[in-house]
Amino acid sequence: MKIIDSPGKRQTQQERYEKTRTLIYPDSGLASRELAAEVGELIRLRQAKGESVVLGLATGSTPVPFYRELIRLHREEGLGFGNVTTFNLDEYYGLAPDHRESYCQFMRDQLFDHIDIPRENINIPDGTVPLDRVYDSCLAYEAKIEAAGGLDIQILGIGRTGHIGFNEPGSSKDSITRMITLDRVTRKDAAADFLGEQNVPRFAVTMGVGTILKARRLVLMAWGENKAEIVREAVEGEVTDQVSASFLQEHDNATFLIDTAAASRLTRRSYPWLVGSVSWDDAMTRRAVVWLAKKLEKPVLKVIEEEYNETGVGELLTAAGPAYQVNIGVFNQLQHTITGWPGGKPGADDSNRPERAQPHPKRVLIFSPEPHDAFVGMGGTIDRLVEQGHEVRIATQTSGNLRVSDVAAYKFASVVREMAEIIGGQGWEGQLSYANDIIGQLEDKGEFGLDPDRVRKLKGLILRGEARDAARVCGVGDEALRFLDMPFYEAGRYRRFNLTDADVSIMRDLLGDYQPHQIYLTGDVADPSSLQALCFRAFEQALPEDGWLDGCRVWLYRGKEAPLAAHEIDMAVPMSPDQLALKSQSLRKFQSINADELETPERNRETAREYDRLGMAEYEGIEAFQRWRRSK
Ligand code: F6R
Repeated sequence: MKIIDSPGKRQTQQERYEKTRTLIYPDSGLASRELAAEVGELIRLRQAKGESVVLGLATGSTPVPFYRELIRLHREEGLGFGNVTTFNLDEYYGLAPDHRESYCQFMRDQLFDHIDIPRENINIPDGTVPLDRVYDSCLAYEAKIEAAGGLDIQILGIGRTGHIGFNEPGSSKDSITRMITLDRVTRKDAAADFLGEQNVPRFAVTMGVGTILKARRLVLMAWGENKAEIVREAVEGEVTDQVSASFLQEHDNATFLIDTAAASRLTRRSYPWLVGSVSWDDAMTRRAVVWLAKKLEKPVLKVIEEEYNETGVGELLTAAGPAYQVNIGVFNQLQHTITGWPGGKPGADDSNRPERAQPHPKRVLIFSPEPHDAFVGMGGTIDRLVEQGHEVRIATQTSGNLRVSDVAAYKFASVVREMAEIIGGQGWEGQLSYANDIIGQLEDKGEFGLDPDRVRKLKGLILRGEARDAARVCGVGDEALRFLDMPFYEAGRYRRFNLTDADVSIMRDLLGDYQPHQIYLTGDVADPSSLQALCFRAFEQALPEDGWLDGCRVWLYRGKEAPLAAHEIDMAVPMSPDQLALKSQSLRKFQSINADELETPERNRETAREYDRLGMAEYEGIEAFQRWRRSK
C-alpha cells in the first residue's frame, strides 16, 4: 500500500470513527519498512529531476526502526541522500550538541553517521542559545525551513501527553518554533535515558504545531500498548490544543502508522460491533458484555434486553440471546478465570480452570526483563506458586544496571572503603583500591557521563542483591534465581538496544535445560524498542518447534504497560490484604530503583474493583494473566 501521496481521508465503514487516516500494521518493522521505501522512492524521483527533498525528522524510540531501514537502503540498495535536507522537530534546552542525550547526538548515532547526507543540510534546533536570543533563533529556524521550500514530509511520534514535537498540552494550532516547558509525564518518560527524572531537562526548543501543519505530508508513527489511549484520543477525539496530535485531523495529507498494540483502543478494535458485523465467539461476547456492563455501571447479570438493543449490541442477542443466557455465559467465563491455584489445583476437576491440575508440582519458569518487573507484575502469584509446592525459577533477563543511580554505587563503594580503613589492614588492599577506583570513576564521569564497565557491573550487582531480597520475601531462595545478563543490554542504552543471536541462545539454553511446564513473561505489547519487548522477542525466537513446549503453558503478565482489562484476562489470581502487603514488602527491597517505577499494588486493587463491579467476588487485589499462544 502506498503511504505517501495517498489521499488524506478515504474511509471504510470500519474506520468511521477515525478522523485521521490510520493504517494498522502487525508490527513496527513492517510499517517502518514501507514508510522508508516510500521516502526512498521520493528521494530517487526528485534526484532524477535534479530536485531536493526536505524531510522533517523526529527523535525518540518510535522512528528508530525507520532510520535503520533508511540506513539499510543506503548501504544495500545505494540510496543516496545528497539531495536531502533535514529539519529536526526539537532539542532539549541546555544540552550541548555533544551531550549524550542531546537530540543532535541521537540523530548522529541513529542516522546521520551512517548515510551520505551533506552535513550542511542537517538542521536541528539549537538548545544552547542564550535565553535572550532563543526567540530570534527560533524565528531563524522557521525562516530556514521556508527558504528550503517547506517540509515535504514531516515524520512524527506521539508522546503520552499527545504532544507532537514537544508541543505539550496548551500549544495552539498556529504556534511556531519556540521554547517550551516539558510536561511532567514527558519528563517521566525520559527518566530512564537521563538516569532519573530529576536529571531530565525542564525545557526544550520545538517546532510549533503550526510549523508542523505546514508540512505537505505528515506521517505519525506509534507503537506499543502505552500509546493506545492517546492514539485513540488523537484519532477519534475532538480537535483540541490539549492533544496536539489531534490537529492532524485538520491536515489534508496526514496518516497515522500504528502497530496492533497501539491500535488496541480504537473503536474498530475495541468495539468492532459498533462499526460492522462481527462473529460472536466467546471472546467477542465477553468483550461486548463487559463493555456494556461497565458503560451501564451494572454487574453483568443485571444487564437487560433493552439495554443490549439501545447500545448497539442487539445483534449479539439475535446470535446468542436471550439476555439472561448471554449474561450467565459471560459471568461463568469471568468466574472461571479466577483461581487461587495459578499452578493448577492437584486432584481437582480442571475442565473449567485456567491451568491444568497435572503435572503437580510443575516446573515454573518466570522471566523478568529487569530484575523488578516480575515482582511488580506477579509478586503475589510467585508467593502462591512457591507455597503450593511448585519448583519456581526466576530468570532475570537483564542486569538492569542502567536503572541504578550513581548514589547507590557511591554508597556501596564508600562502605567498602570505610570497612577497609576501619577493620581492614593487611589483605584489604584490593578492596580499598576497588572502592577508590569506583569512586574515582563516578567522579570523573560526572552526572551525565556514561558508566564505565566497572561501575555498570557494580550497579548490576547491587540490583542483584535487591532482587534476591525481594525473591526471598516471596519465598524464592537464592538457588532458584538465574541472572542472565543478556548481552544486548550490557552493550546498549535505552532506546538503542539491538538484540543478537547471543541473547537468543542464552534463552534457548535456559529453556532447553529447564523444560518448564509453565512460563510467565511480559513484554508482548511493550514499545518494540524497549528492553521488555526485546526480551519477549528473544523468547519467541528461542522457542523450539515442539517437544517439551507441547506440555507447557505460557502466561503473560503486565509490568509497566496498562493492566489487562477484564475482558482480556484468562487467569485472575486473587490476593488477600496480607498477600498484597507481602508484595509491597518485596517491592520495597528495590531501593536503588525510583519508587515511581514500582507501580504499587494499587493496580492490583483496581483490577479487583473491576471484577467486583462486574458482579464477581470482592477481593483486595488481583494479579491478572493472559494466555499466550504462538501465532501460526
Ligand atoms: C521527538 C519528539 C517527540 C516524540 C514523542 C514520542 O523528536 O518530538 O514528540 O516523538 O515524545 O517519543 P518516543 O518515540 O520515544 O515514544
